[in-house]
Amino acid sequence: MKILEGKRGLIFGALDEKSIAWKVALNAHEQGAKFILSNAPIALRMGKINELAEKTESRVIPADATSVDDLNKLFDESVKLLGGKLDFVLHSIGMSVNVRKGREYTNQNYDFTIKGFDVSALSFHKVLQSAWKNESMNDYGSIVALSYVAAQKTFPDYNDMAENKAYLESIARSFGYHFGNRNKVRINTISQSPTITTAGSGVKGFDTFFNYADKMSPLGNASAEDCANFCIALFSDLTKSVTMQNIFHDGGFSNTGISEDLIKEFTS
Ligand code: NAI
Repeated sequence: MKILEGKRGLIFGALDEKSIAWKVALNAHEQGAKFILSNAPIALRMGKINELAEKTESRVIPADATSVDDLNKLFDESVKLLGGKLDFVLHSIGMSVNVRKGREYTNQNYDFTIKGFDVSALSFHKVLQSAWKNESMNDYGSIVALSYVAAQKTFPDYNDMAENKAYLESIARSFGYHFGNRNKVRINTISQSPTITTAGSGVKGFDTFFNYADKMSPLGNASAEDCANFCIALFSDLTKSVTMQNIFHDGGFSNTGISEDLIKEFTS
């Protein structure tokens, strides 16, 4: 059985084949969904999204997720092109200018901080508000954004993205209330293990905390493919009562104090 058969969606954030959104799109296509792919105009020029569009028989519509105008047009066009309201949306967008420019957490450039906040966190509210005002979601639809455990625990080099993720998770709870009440639409964030992608590898010391998380997690780090499977589960009708949650998809990392692997490393 294809669990997304007959469903229509919108997927933000597929840049190249390493992107989590890329894997979600391939999986959603296999599961029978029809969807629009979207990314920032500059990412469309640099990335390979057309390759993905061909593979998944989908259309691409550019939108800067910080622009309310772009988002309104995107939702409007998506509903028209797909022939009906949407059943699922994936927000897979993140970028810190401070991280990109090598600014430490204790030496932020606040223009960079605000830009990164707009792209990584506020854009989620803008996406939701646009879907809300344009009445673009079908009843019982599902909206998912991707987060990271640095929203709860400190990872020094994750920098200002920690605050962005905390804000993102809070939006899922607050907007989840309103969208649930009006349309039974559910909104969740998935807190994913470190994953080797363009955004992930941009964080200083990424290899170290990728390996550390892998050794700490009883199941090991969750792969991008498994993350895509979990997104599909949340888009499907099998999770109709799950909303306003931040769900850890991390092989057990977030609830582990120390693992035997790490004990061995520190035992002389
Ligand atoms: P990625 O670099 O493939 O995806 C990030 C996407 O954000 C890119 O497609 C980029 O073009 C898009 N983007 C940036 N600015 C934009 C804008 N103004 N408008 C529209 N789109 C814009 O990397 P990845 O890892 O697939 O990231 C997806 C999500 O997963 C992000 O929210 C990230 O923070 C989150 N995540 C990633 C982890 C990792 O270790 N890679 C771990 C936990 C969460």
